[in-house]
Amino acid sequence: MKILIKKGRVIDPKNDIDETLDIYINGNMIERIDRNIREKGSDIQVIDVSHHIIAPGLIDVHAHLREPGYEYKETIKTGTMAAVKGGFTTVVCMANTHPINDNKSVTEYIIEKSKSEGLCRVFPCGAITKGLKSEELSEIGEMFEAGIIAISDDGKSVKNAELLRRALEYAKLFAIPTISHCEDEDLSKGFVHEGHASLLSGLDTIPPISEEIIVKRDMAIAQYVGSPIHLTHISTEGSVEAIHKAKKGYKKITCDTCPHYFTLTDEATLGFDTSTKVNPPLRSKEDVKALKEGLKNNTIDIIATDHAPHEGSSKDVEFNLATFGISGLETAFALSLSLVHEGVLTLKELLKKFTVNPAKLLKLPYGELTPGKVADLIIFNPDIEWVVDKNEFLSKGKNTPFHGWKLKGKNLLTIVDGKIVYRDKIFT
Ligand code: DOR
Repeated sequence: MKILIKKGRVIDPKNDIDETLDIYINGNMIERIDRNIREKGSDIQVIDVSHHIIAPGLIDVHAHLREPGYEYKETIKTGTMAAVKGGFTTVVCMANTHPINDNKSVTEYIIEKSKSEGLCRVFPCGAITKGLKSEELSEIGEMFEAGIIAISDDGKSVKNAELLRRALEYAKLFAIPTISHCEDEDLSKGFVHEGHASLLSGLDTIPPISEEIIVKRDMAIAQYVGSPIHLTHISTEGSVEAIHKAKKGYKKITCDTCPHYFTLTDEATLGFDTSTKVNPPLRSKEDVKALKEGLKNNTIDIIATDHAPHEGSSKDVEFNLATFGISGLETAFALSLSLVHEGVLTLKELLKKFTVNPAKLLKLPYGELTPGKVADLIIFNPDIEWVVDKNEFLSKGKNTPFHGWKLKGKNLLTIVDGKIVYRDKIFT
């Protein structure tokens, strides 16, 4: 298949490009990026994208695709359909499936299923400990051979510091990152942020210190053994400050936050809407301010979705009983564009946190628009307004606190490996 994309504003942070250009895709590769490409032939599909932006496909370092085991929440097929609609061409899927991805047969299953049914690239993240129980290390070497790209006990932190130390040492041998979910189990038995809103709602709380204590511990252990550490879904001012400080002395620390943490505050939980129940919890407006500052000064390297789809019945219950998580793949990029509209980041800076930085963390040859490299790209418009309708989600998870929100900025077309895998009705 040959595709000629005409007259788009190409923004590629990796190659430091921001200008109006054409892109010619031949097979699965980008063949040329230039002004006025005049390739001719009846087998070339020409797409005029004037007024829109062409960017590298987005990379999500943190999503839950739920397969195997929880296909009633999501499957690799529906999760990747949601991903490509949201502008993602590569997704890392977390290990809290059933069975847990703590051995090579589960890793192989995910990889095979992704190849046969996935619409984008899927890379599994292996569990650090068997059964996510913090008792015994998983088969990290065997999972690495089978294709894991990182290790994480996401959903919880590794309670046993000695095991985390050993895992970090293993991960260093295989040159893969350790992704740390930072919440102290004993301090995070509640459901919402400990602050003004929890005083009003009376809901049990998760204090910021629950996150910050593990952020500091995990950075300290990683530095001690000289391994890279990636701290995921950072939500508090104290975490941003601690990471900012630690990065000055130790260069192998990276972190991400998610759109819900810089878009919403704990006030959103006051209506007892279970779609606002997430781990870590939505925090205060001071935390939101610190996250935006951290994104601006590059303390926060990456924006991830923590796409956590759940079936309706697990959310249509009392707040205390509901599952934690937000279905995020279809709103993450549009919500993040508000950082550009507000003047927190430039478009190029925002795209860096969705492309170059995750590619660097995971050592992937994606997240860039370079002739001779694979054609994974998106076409989006940062100014198109649309209303989020959870019933139109391609994800099985309709659990979003953004239903009915008017967002500015929309992904319009997604190409993975040279093939169009998502097309907005604007292009039909
Ligand atoms: O809210 C969350 N849901 N946070 C996590 O860390 C895990 C996730 C899930 O698996 O549902």
